[in-house]
Amino acid sequence: MTADARAVAVVTGGAGGLGAAICQSLAQAGLRVVVTYRSSADAARALAATLPGDDHLALPASVTDSTSLQALATSVQAACGRADVLVNCAGTTRFVAHADLDGLDDALIDEILSTNVRGAIAATRALLPLLRESQLTGGGVVINISSIAARTGMGSNIAYCASKAALDNLTLSLARALAPQVRVLSVAPGLVDTEFVKSLDVEWRDRQCASTPLGRLAEPAEIGRAVVVAVRDLTFSTGCILPVDGGRPLG
Ligand SMILES: NC(=O)c1ccc[n+]([C@@H]2O[C@H](COP(=O)([O-])OP(=O)(O)OC[C@H]3O[C@@H](n4cnc5c(N)ncnc54)[C@H](OP(=O)(O)O)[C@@H]3O)[C@@H](O)[C@H]2O)c1
Repeated sequence: MTADARAVAVVTGGAGGLGAAICQSLAQAGLRVVVTYRSSADAARALAATLPGDDHLALPASVTDSTSLQALATSVQAACGRADVLVNCAGTTRFVAHADLDGLDDALIDEILSTNVRGAIAATRALLPLLRESQLTGGGVVINISSIAARTGMGSNIAYCASKAALDNLTLSLARALAPQVRVLSVAPGLVDTEFVKSLDVEWRDRQCASTPLGRLAEPAEIGRAVVVAVRDLTFSTGCILPVDGGRPLG
């Protein structure tokens, strides 16, 4: 990525378990990273200060607040003069058994859909003028962090699964609509061994590993590397879903 060494990547949810690993991989690949946060200001600043390379930033934005996303775009323009990559990683969920429709109240459904789906549209809308001007090989890039749940209908609750299916569908529509200036891809992880997942019931985790042909969960860094490959190497790919799931749907 030498010619694009100071390309700028904006990562929503950048201080989260997966977001931090994605920021790490993008910085290692030579990009300047904007770690965006909603509530995790300290973690985002600490991450930005310790990523490999110089001049990384931590900036606030809630993906459910379009005014804050517009302010983010303005700050990125002022500080960096460009944005080449947007990673829509901010997401939310809560465990609700799929048969427990009463447990999945309207407030939770709205929170999941407004964050995981509307949030990705809103962040893309805010950063689009900058992404369209990217001189990166292959053009600007939007990476939507979706999930294996989109394909299998298995996940923390049914609204979460639906939100990730919607996000993958958004990848298709946006890829068509924003070409040729901007490519849009989904990176779809299976269960990732983040600190949160490590804290869950061990027997349940073991069952997830046993149902995965490659016999383990994904490491966060493997998702980060998939994002880098999509940005740096898959320069003729758009509108595709890149699974990083150890073959779990085959299991
Ligand atoms: N972990 C897995 O196994 C797995 C598997 C497949 C897909 N994913 C997807 O990967 C993404 C990250 O998940 P994770 O495991 O890293 O979860 P996490 O550690 O809980 O991180 C979630 C992130 O989303 C941010 N966020 C939530 N609501 C937001 C909002 N309204 N505006 C801006 N940011 C918001 C949080 O920011 P603040 O902390 O600053 O509030 C946090 O950084 C999600 O989209 C998730 O669905 C995860």
